Amino acid sequence: MTAFHSISGKAKVAGVMGWPIGHSRSPRLHGWWLRHYGIDGAYAPLAVAPERAEQAIRALPALGLRGCNVTVPLKEIAFRTVDRLDDTARRMGAVNTIVVAEDGALEGGNTDGFGFIENLRAERPDWTADLGPAVVIGAGGAARAVVVALLDAGAPEVRLVNRTRARAEELAADLAAAGLAGPVTVVEWVSRETALDGAALLVNTTTQGMAGQPALDLPLRALPVTALVNDIVYVPLETPLLAEARLRGNPVAGGIGMLLHQARPGFKAWFGVEPEVTADLARFVLARS
Ligand code: ATR
Repeated sequence: MTAFHSISGKAKVAGVMGWPIGHSRSPRLHGWWLRHYGIDGAYAPLAVAPERAEQAIRALPALGLRGCNVTVPLKEIAFRTVDRLDDTARRMGAVNTIVVAEDGALEGGNTDGFGFIENLRAERPDWTADLGPAVVIGAGGAARAVVVALLDAGAPEVRLVNRTRARAEELAADLAAAGLAGPVTVVEWVSRETALDGAALLVNTTTQGMAGQPALDLPLRALPVTALVNDIVYVPLETPLLAEARLRGNPVAGGIGMLLHQARPGFKAWFGVEPEVTADLARFVLARS
């Protein structure tokens, strides 16, 4: 594949805003789709410092951009800045996709939870959220998107386990205030093994297991072998958690698909084509160069 993608003066332009932005894989991802579908468009990395984010977001319509993705640490600023929020973004308190509407208004959405669920469905077509309790490790922004998505998809219970209990309590209280259906139970970090009892799904949303980080410290003895195990970490693709789960016979799902699927709604809105997630795309996005 050539590195050159030709665009005209009429190209549709979008991008990803973050700080720093150099490690984002989104330009590779959208660039692959643009080339694949032969679209006259461009998707740029936009390095925007937090103190300038509001100004940058408000400038999108004036610059003629179709919209943008928003990544760490700007998702909450985007939430406060856009003109309209969809229901999911409102409940997540964070915006990762902005679309400039016909009237110039900024529409904010959050597709992280959609990407999470679509990845599990694609990797494990027999998985549904209503199979049983879900255990979510972590209480950061990623955990929030995962918990909202699981309850929306019909999970009967979410057990939230975080090293710092107060953060998990805060997240659970926030979600209850947002009127989420379904109970969220907070489990102490020291008792984390007990959370696995009878679970149908285990998700790691922490940075543990990422290349350069220690493995997640969670013995799997109490986890039923039928439970699906998912790590949202995707470097490496096979984290120690996934390797251990696979070894004991659990079905597993990697994390790269969440990144790929969360990008679909934005691409469709900005460039007008419903893009497909394929193994070729995953390989390209993960390649170093
Ligand atoms: P994000 O918004 O991407 O989810 P984050 O807000 O930095 O990222 O959250 C990182 C998560 O990893 C947190 O749940 C964090 O736990 P704490 O709230 O206790 O900090 C978790 N985490 C980070 N290092 C950890 C470790 N060594 N052991 C267990 N959990 C860890």
